[in-house]
Formats: sequence, C-alpha cells, structure tokens
Amino acid sequence: MKIGFIGLGKLGLDCAEVMAEKYTVHGYDIYPRTSDSVKVCSTPEEMIDNSDWIFIAVQTPHQEGYDGSVPSSHMEPKDFGHDAVKDAIQMVNHFATEPKKIVLISTVLPGTTRRHFYSMLNSEHQFLYNPYLIAMGSVKWDFANPEMVMIGTETGDPSEMEDLIELYRPLMKNNPRYVTGTWDECESIKIFYNTFISAKVGLVNMIQDFALKIGNINVDVVTDALAQSTMRIMGPKYMTAGMGDSGACHPRDNIALRWLAKEYDIGYDMFDTIMGAREVQAKNLADFLVTHADGKPIVIHGKAYKPDVPFCIGSYSTLVGFYVEEHGKTVKYVDPIADNPKDVVDSIDEASIILYAHNRYITYGYTGQYTKDDTFYCDIPEGSVIVDPWRNLPKQNNKYEVIHYGNTRTQ
Ligand SMILES: NC(=O)c1ccc[n+]([C@@H]2O[C@H](COP(=O)([O-])OP(=O)(O)OC[C@H]3O[C@@H](n4cnc5c(N)ncnc54)[C@H](O)[C@@H]3O)[C@@H](O)[C@H]2O)c1
Repeated sequence: MKIGFIGLGKLGLDCAEVMAEKYTVHGYDIYPRTSDSVKVCSTPEEMIDNSDWIFIAVQTPHQEGYDGSVPSSHMEPKDFGHDAVKDAIQMVNHFATEPKKIVLISTVLPGTTRRHFYSMLNSEHQFLYNPYLIAMGSVKWDFANPEMVMIGTETGDPSEMEDLIELYRPLMKNNPRYVTGTWDECESIKIFYNTFISAKVGLVNMIQDFALKIGNINVDVVTDALAQSTMRIMGPKYMTAGMGDSGACHPRDNIALRWLAKEYDIGYDMFDTIMGAREVQAKNLADFLVTHADGKPIVIHGKAYKPDVPFCIGSYSTLVGFYVEEHGKTVKYVDPIADNPKDVVDSIDEASIILYAHNRYITYGYTGQYTKDDTFYCDIPEGSVIVDPWRNLPKQNNKYEVIHYGNTRTQ
C-alpha cells in the first residue's frame, strides 16, 4: 500500500512513522520536517503521485483564548478553523491525476465534513473520516493500541471501509474494535468521547470540592468506590480527582461544542456547564494556594498540560495560575521543557507553597512505565509546603509539609 500524509505535525509525523514500519509512506508539510522512515517530499505533487491513500493531518485550530488555559466560558462560542483542511483538499484536487482515497484524521465538530469539505473534493476521490483517540506524549503507543478505530463515509456503508480496516490490521497491537458509521457519526464519537472525559474529571473534582467544604472526607475513598462500580458507572480511568481536564484536545473540543449547541439551537449548553465547572474548580484550587501560602511565594510544579511534553496549550496549571494572579499574587512555574517560558524558573530558591501539578504516575501509569515514586523538576527548599492534588506524595517528611488536597480526613 502506498501511503501519503499531508501535515507532519505533532499527530501526523508520529502516525506516519508507525505506518512506515509496514508500508512505504511519503509525507508533505509546508514546514520543513525530517524523518528516518517517512520519505519527506519537497512538493505536494511528489507526495500525491506516490500515494494511493492520502491521510490529512493538518491543524483545525481554535481561536486565540479558546484552548482552556485561561477562562473562556464567558466568551462567544466559536467553531474550529477549517482553512488548512480546505487547502489540503484543494492540493489533492490540483495534483491528483488518478482517483485517491482521502482520509481526514484531524478533529472537527459533527456535521463539518458534510457541510464544508465533501463538496470541495473532486468526485473521483473517496473521502473517509477517521479521527484518532490519541494523546500527546504517547502518540505512537496510542496509535497502535487504540480503544477503537472509527471510520466514517457519506452513507456509513461498512463495505466502503474494508480497505482501510485491512490497512490498519497489521499496524495494530491490541486487535481493536472497528466502528463504522457516517462521517457525522464518527465526528460525534470522537468529540463526545472527549466530552465524557471532561465530564468525568469535572465530576470527580466536584467531589474533591465537597471534601474540602464538608470535612472528614478523603475524595479517593469516594471515587475509588465509584470507580469500581462497574455495574452502572463505567471503568476506572479518569476517576482520580486532581488537576482538571487539560491539553490540546479536550478543553478546546468542549469550548467549541458550545458553538455547536448554539448553532443547532439545542436549547441548553452542557458543554458550558462542564467547562464552567472546570474553571471554578481551578479557581478553588488557586484560592486554596493563596489561603495556605502564609506569605510564601506560589510555585506551580509543571506548566505544560502534562509531564514530559512541552505543550502549554489547554494547560490547567496556567488556568490555576490565572486565578492566583487574580488575587494580586505572582506565580512562578518550574518546568524544564515548557514551550511557554513566561514566569518559568529553573529552581525554587526559598521556602514556597508548591502545587504538585505534574505527576508521571497519574498521567502515564497505564503504560506500566512509572511507579508512584516520582521526582521533582528541581530541589524543594526546606520549609516549603507542597499541595499534592493527586495525594501521592508521602506525608512523612522532615524537609517540607505535604498537603493532600481533597483529603480532609483527620485520621
Ligand atoms: N496532536 C495530537 O495528539 C492529536 C490527537 C488527536 C487529534 N489531533 C487532531 O489532529 C489535527 C492535527 O493536530 P496536530 O497536533 O498534529 O497539529 P500540528 O499543528 O502539530 O500539525 C499540523 C501540521 O500540518 C501542517 N500543514 C498545515 N497546512 C498544510 C498544508 N496545506 N500542506 C501540508 N502541511 C500542512 C502544518 O505545517 C503542521 O506541521 C488537529 O485537528 C488535532 O485536533 C491531534
């Protein structure tokens, strides 16, 4: 199979490299990219000529301020931008000299492919919508071990998807479910999957808020019991209260879905409620830091949206930081690879109150690579107070105090 990629960014390049383990893969990006296994072409024409399948992995950006790293629930709902996908489709129309199978893997809201893209593509080509359940930091692993593979076509006829399923089979390591549907159904499965996660995290963090208000409650006792209630309340993932839902996909998807709810006049906006709760939960955490600072500087351990990735897009750390600053306080971050250097410091020089936002075990524990013992990005000065929203750090320590945020049990 001859495979091509338009867009070799954070998603496209890693996915193209996994495919290159089994197939010949050519890629094209408007920015210079390099790869040991993907043949990076200098023109779109070269890539298209060498490909029967063309995967489109270009960005579908949200507008400035709509990623969830600062409050947005008060702002006018907005759809994602579609210009890059439209450019990619025009590229295929312009350069393809024979019918191609076009597979869009970028995230779009339900209804977008039918409304905006399909009519643009020359009719000899097939158009499939095939979004991925992939997270940054583990793109290659997630690609080969997906919970499901969603493939959508105009009518949802499963026979139209057999070739793509065959293409995927040798690449998958976990024999995943293949779900077929219309474009609109697959757009919905992908984006509402993210909403379920945002809602789940919002609910467990709500229990955390109640634990703080009521007292004598360890939020983990409550959520662990709920997590094991598999008769009615799903599985245990995203059932640890802590930092809020974050990253390049989930917050912005829900923020954009506010636009969809309005566009289709659904009559209510659950996304606004979920994202509004996320913001108030961040504010509660910020208030807690300010209240317990007792004159100490406030530091957030981890600025990117999760450990070991540089991306500060959709970061809950910066959302908490925003609310700390609303108190008129300054906030510093320690994060050696954060792509936004504002207020990032290399070390903490005096006793501080530190929010332990990044914890590898919580984020990547499912890959089996981490234990609960985690490390810090820098030395922790004596006399500091660490607010651990994951309740993972040992409390017995003669150097600094550890507060397990969300555990108000007295014994
Ligand atoms: N990054 C992830 O882990 C992830 C996971 C699931 C879904 N997604 C979705 O995948 C899409 C891409 O995300 P990303 O994070 O890779 O974005 P990105 O910005 O990192 O990559 C997009 C790439 O497309 C290139 N590009 C844009 N227009 C082009 C054109 N006309 N021709 C060739 N190349 C072009 C850009 O130069 C860039 O390298 C988005 O819709 C995103 O929501 C991303």
